[in-house]
Amino acid sequence: MNKIIPRSRAWMLAREQPVRPLAMLFLRRAGQDSSMNPTTRRKGSHIDVCIGEGVEALEKGAGFGDVEFVHEALPELDYGSVDLGVTLLGKKLKAPLLVEGITGGYPKAAEINRALAEAAQENGVGMGLGSQRAMLEDASLAGTYKVRDVAPKILLVGNIGVAQLKKYDARKIARAVSDVGADAVAVHLNVLQELAQPEGDRDFSGSLALIERLCGESGVPVVAKETGAGIGPGTARRLEKAGVAAIDVAGAGGTSWAGVELVRAGKGHEKAFWDWGIPTAVSTALVARDAKVPVICSGGVRSGVHAAKGIALGASAAGAALPFLRAWGEGGKGRVSSLLRGWAEELRMAMALTGCENVAALRSSRLIVTGRTADALCAFGCFPASFATRERKRPRA
Ligand SMILES: Cc1cc2nc3c(=O)[nH]c(=O)nc-3n(C[C@H](O)[C@H](O)[C@H](O)COP(=O)(O)O)c2cc1C
Repeated sequence: MNKIIPRSRAWMLAREQPVRPLAMLFLRRAGQDSSMNPTTRRKGSHIDVCIGEGVEALEKGAGFGDVEFVHEALPELDYGSVDLGVTLLGKKLKAPLLVEGITGGYPKAAEINRALAEAAQENGVGMGLGSQRAMLEDASLAGTYKVRDVAPKILLVGNIGVAQLKKYDARKIARAVSDVGADAVAVHLNVLQELAQPEGDRDFSGSLALIERLCGESGVPVVAKETGAGIGPGTARRLEKAGVAAIDVAGAGGTSWAGVELVRAGKGHEKAFWDWGIPTAVSTALVARDAKVPVICSGGVRSGVHAAKGIALGASAAGAALPFLRAWGEGGKGRVSSLLRGWAEELRMAMALTGCENVAALRSSRLIVTGRTADALCAFGCFPASFATRERKRPRA
């Protein structure tokens, strides 16, 4: 059992009151010491803050509350034959779920990644690693990302920040990805986090060209991934043109990276950018409307029903980070595995209740989209009524 870090300063406190600097406390909790380099130390403090503090969106939801399935009273299917299987980035998944990239690069990360990977293997779902920057800076940290011995079959996605593409050439990144046995690499886009971090990068120019180069030279599929502020349809088009193989919208409404950095800096009372970003439901629907590459719905996905809604909005799979990290904090691999099992079961029920025998059918399932999500979609000329009236692709008539 892992030591549970008490959620001492709960949500309301993170919202309403200044949080005192916690740097020394985090240093101890994450098993860090002052000789660690800044990247390594930051990794540990992100885990502690995300497990122990209120870091999710305050006012803004991911939008799943605005999305309702049209219940099918006559599903005409056998529950046992509902098939959750999909192929994503060349790998078969038993359920269209991903544990999103979380960590790597400091001692405790090895334990976390291995637990998440084992749970992913047990449930036949995909998993992302956290940013591999730390192992590029210090090769001795590579072991903290290595999970293939416990998860030989899963879809494993490596990870690098777009800012690191300036510093490390595509071949070096490709070596780091192959070193951990990943099937693909996610390039994370995290402008909000960088700006919220006093030590963050500030020069965002030339990023698209660098992503294009990585797509051409990495030898593995490249996933463009946000980290909680979402991707707009125009940006998705530019990324697709640059050659990305999938887009993970990681929209707003879940973990707020402005929030994480503000809490880390003892400025939890500064709220201006806490909720910044495109809500996940909106980002998913708009990107998936035009994209020819698979779209992953993530950011505030907190149940199998949310995952089903994200897929019905057009995604090929859905992912989450914070719930799985917290499950690990509460009960290690077993808790993560049972959460994944529960989400897959909810997904199956949602499919049965909408008469969908497979994930392709779920993607064309009828939806009622209302509220702020409907307003935002309308603003982009995407009419919510089209989700309620669309032709359903059903295995049976
Ligand atoms: C502790 C923690 C560390 C993270 N580190 C990374 C990272 O290194 N690379 C990345 O692409 N995303 C990272 N993320 C972002 C997640 O992959 C995800 O996009 C984001 O948290 C939104 O999903 P959620 O609301 O389910 O948490 C991290 C998330 C958490 C909670």
